[in-house]
Amino acid sequence: MGNPFKFGTIVDGQYFTDRTKELQYVEQILQSENHLVLISPRRFGKSSLVNKALEQTTRKHIVINMQSVTSVQNFASRLMGALFRLYPGEKMKHLMTHFRVVPTVSTNPMTGSVDVSFNPSMNSDVILEDAMELLQKVSTEKNRLIVVLDEFQEIDGIKGFDKQLRSIMQTQQHINYVFLGSQESMMESIFEKKKSPFYHFGQLMRLAKIPYEDFKQYVAERLNEELAEEILAFTDCHPYYTQQIAAQVWDLVNYEHEETDLIPKAIERLVTLHDLDFERLWLNFNKSDRRVLQELSKSVGNNPLSDRSFPTSTTFSILKKLMRQGYVIKTDRYEIEDPFFRRWVMERG
Ligand SMILES: Nc1ncnc2c1ncn2[C@@H]1O[C@H](COP(=O)(O)OP(=O)(O)O)[C@@H](O)[C@H]1O
Ligand SMILES: [Mg+2]
Repeated sequence: MGNPFKFGTIVDGQYFTDRTKELQYVEQILQSENHLVLISPRRFGKSSLVNKALEQTTRKHIVINMQSVTSVQNFASRLMGALFRLYPGEKMKHLMTHFRVVPTVSTNPMTGSVDVSFNPSMNSDVILEDAMELLQKVSTEKNRLIVVLDEFQEIDGIKGFDKQLRSIMQTQQHINYVFLGSQESMMESIFEKKKSPFYHFGQLMRLAKIPYEDFKQYVAERLNEELAEEILAFTDCHPYYTQQIAAQVWDLVNYEHEETDLIPKAIERLVTLHDLDFERLWLNFNKSDRRVLQELSKSVGNNPLSDRSFPTSTTFSILKKLMRQGYVIKTDRYEIEDPFFRRWVMERG
């Protein structure tokens, strides 16, 4: 048997746990004419959740990760590449009769993937409009297309793209858009700020960590209850880090035949593994950042901001900055995102 824990990429099947209510909610929105905006810190399981919802539908769907989109043209190319995969051959040709700019389409015979590109001198507004029009053409009231835009906050890196996209999307019908985003403050300003083109464009949903009891059972079934409790005490139910340390513990038991102090050993392995990265990170923080991180590293389980000696406006703005950068997350309290980094900071403290 191989390692029963998985971390890093989308999980499903035996690696996927809980999220029943969330899944139901996602499905409910997809069955309506509304769009979904799903927000959480990175590695909480957004992509996995939406992937699961897509697996359970027979409807056609496209997923584009905005992190790898470099320009408006590039976005249009990707959309079309995805559509070619859904509708191979003649059907696409037929659908593209409205195109004002003719793309170059090539198929990779090894992977079967389709590559679409446009002449870079062509007007990108026109290209985007034509490509988006295709989505509309393949969508009907009975067979609504689902378009997932993952890491959507990255749209901010392409100037004016949000306005352009929104002005097209708002005229469309029978398409469900799903926007996923990891940088909470950016996603909030995209969808919650009155001036933003995407203001209140979709139903907002926040994904939390996996509930304790459920995650404990998942880990315990693959290790044992005592280890599960110890692991979750360290990771505080963070989906990714829980799977990561559990995988390490499983290796220690099954490949190295360790029997004692499994959690401390696993933690030490992983902290050591990342020591260089943590060191580099630390050097890039200024003194006040470091002070706040040190405070947070000590306060597992209670809220440093409820401690009256802690919250000054300076501290608060540092916390906000660290959150924007992804080093700190806010759940029911402020915490260092990575429990291994937290441990590293604590050991130095
Ligand atoms: N439902 C789940 N059950 C168990 N582990 C999960 C679940 N969702 C996410 N994870 C863990 O978190 C990791 C990151 O998930 P992912 O869907 O990529 O998160 P996000 O898209 O929010 O960054 C996965 O590789 C897996 O280890
Ligand atoms: Mg993701």
